[in-house]
Amino acid sequence: MGLPAERVVSEYRNCKILVTGGLGFIGSNLALRLARAGARVTVVDSAVAGCGANRHNIAAAEGDLRVIVADIADAASFAAEIRGCSVIFNLAGEVSHIHSMRDPCRDAALNSTAQLRFLEECGRQAPGVRVVYAGTRQIYGVPKYLPVDESHPVQPVDFNGIHKYAATAYHLLWSSMGRIDGRVLCLTNVYGPRMALHLTCQGFLGNFLRRALLRQPLEVFGTGRQLRDPVYVDDAVDAFLLAGASQDPQSRHWNVGGPGTLPVAQIASIISAAACLADPVFRPFPEEQKGIDIGSYSSDSTRIRTELGWQPAIAFEQGVHQTLEYFQRECLHYLRAEDWKPECALQEVPVLGPAVPAA
Ligand SMILES: NC(=O)c1ccc[n+]([C@@H]2O[C@H](COP(=O)([O-])OP(=O)(O)OC[C@H]3O[C@@H](n4cnc5c(N)ncnc54)[C@H](O)[C@@H]3O)[C@@H](O)[C@H]2O)c1
Repeated sequence: MGLPAERVVSEYRNCKILVTGGLGFIGSNLALRLARAGARVTVVDSAVAGCGANRHNIAAAEGDLRVIVADIADAASFAAEIRGCSVIFNLAGEVSHIHSMRDPCRDAALNSTAQLRFLEECGRQAPGVRVVYAGTRQIYGVPKYLPVDESHPVQPVDFNGIHKYAATAYHLLWSSMGRIDGRVLCLTNVYGPRMALHLTCQGFLGNFLRRALLRQPLEVFGTGRQLRDPVYVDDAVDAFLLAGASQDPQSRHWNVGGPGTLPVAQIASIISAAACLADPVFRPFPEEQKGIDIGSYSSDSTRIRTELGWQPAIAFEQGVHQTLEYFQRECLHYLRAEDWKPECALQEVPVLGPAVPAA
């Protein structure tokens, strides 16, 4: 008997599955896993400028996936792909909190309006279809207590959190109206292979990993004492698979956190050590990010553990090692041409041994 997600993945064999945002970081990892399991996967992605779409992300299964370049707001244009779907994994969205503050209307269009239009079309083409949405911990804002459970008040501190919350509520409302069978995962910071490292506005983990690859000292903003609980992308993918396979779940909304809670400074030190770099340097918070920092965060994942049997399996050190290994091999596809140098592909990452289960 393997982990719960290993047991359910075979249930997707021959199933018709749609993955929106499937050229991006998490969506492509999910699409590849489903294709390997024998699912009939269609990826829909409009390759939004400033988001993480990268055709190379699905190179490993290009022949086994169907790719439609379309905006989910125009779901009528791919209605046939929605009809007959067993599960729709809905990961299309804009992650960047900074982008949302620079252009709130763009964020509303991508994270709210497009979702509303998409769900309307799903309800029309495939009444009652199961839709698993990639929500975010950002909806909770500055935590009032730690770890944050699903009953925590929703008080987003940026437009991204507001618009992602609207989309979360759309999924839950359409569900209660019987139009779709919606489920939402509120993800903490996800990291791993296929992150869009060239984008500097997608969060601190991508920035740390890019600098590690470029052999530059990592930069920590503020004291570095803020807590985070990063989750490795394969574990996040397991959560989607379990949420999509559950027949009659007790809840429709689960927090998904990492295996441990670490200060950002320690996260930077672990990545620096894995890449054999000197210690991180500390800088004041850039003005643009000061107002939207949420301080410390850690997820309470009790609900998804008890209801769906999910728990993260990859300890942070191991996940970092696997991530750096991937990007060393594939760095040409993830760094801007002007940043790339041969050393990026030549660094020695110490071998940490086989994956160890998280404590
Ligand atoms: N990465 C994280 O740490 C994290 C944390 C919490 C929530 N999430 C959520 O998970 C989802 C995936 O995140 P990611 O890190 O893979 O981001 P990503 O930017 O790598 O991928 C998102 C993809 O969605 C596509 N997209 C955006 N709007 C679209 C639209 N209207 N129609 C079609 N395609 C569209 C983009 O082109 C991109 O390829 C997002 O919804 C994000 O909000 C991510």
